[in-house]
Amino acid sequence: MTETGHAEVGREWWFRAWAERDSARRFARLHEAMVAQAVPEPLCDACAKARADEDRHAALCADVARRFRRDDPYADIPAPGDALGSGQLEPDQRLLYEMVAFCAVTESLNASLLLTVFDAAREPGVREATQALLRDEVTHAQLGWAYLAYHVQERGSPAFLGPRLERILEATVSESLVSPEAFCAHWSDPALGYLPRSERVRVFLRGLRTVVLPGLAWHGIATGDADRWLSSRPWAQEAA
Ligand SMILES: [Fe+2]
Ligand SMILES: [Fe+2]
Repeated sequence: MTETGHAEVGREWWFRAWAERDSARRFARLHEAMVAQAVPEPLCDACAKARADEDRHAALCADVARRFRRDDPYADIPAPGDALGSGQLEPDQRLLYEMVAFCAVTESLNASLLLTVFDAAREPGVREATQALLRDEVTHAQLGWAYLAYHVQERGSPAFLGPRLERILEATVSESLVSPEAFCAHWSDPALGYLPRSERVRVFLRGLRTVVLPGLAWHGIATGDADRWLSSRPWAQEAA
């Protein structure tokens, strides 16, 4: 492997560590909102557990990153776990927005990407870390779907999310997915957990079309905006 490739694999794992810290902050805030809104205890407890999982994931990703590269380029970048979506929502709508955007959508897509990474990974440290992350991210996705089902049952229609799906999906796509200039567009090493861009796009689209969008539609969220958004993305057309 080239020195640049080695450093790039390390950078990706440092980025994952940063994203896990951000997820931990977000779950901490979501847990507070759930308790304040008297959400049933099993959902609150699952949210608290998810926060602890993300703290553990951050340490796990940093351990892998150090195998490839010593400096953390994200060390000084805050991971605030900021609220997602616009400010014009009622508190219960805001909570649903985030549980859908962050857990049902992002964690489902994340889990399907991690499954592909795990299948291809051969480097021992990478393989074990990916398996550990995958096991937990699947439960975080399930928490999002369970919260959506609870909201529909107890709090009302989630239809207000339909016109917001474009914004939700836009927030899930990373530079490595959309940019033909991304490093993974011209270099990859799946054995080390570093997938080529074409594979990332393929897995993202498959997860979106076979799990996420049908799941949202089943719960009463119109997905027409999401379909239009997808058909206007150049990177999605390239993969078609
Ligand atoms: Fe995580
Ligand atoms: Fe997670």
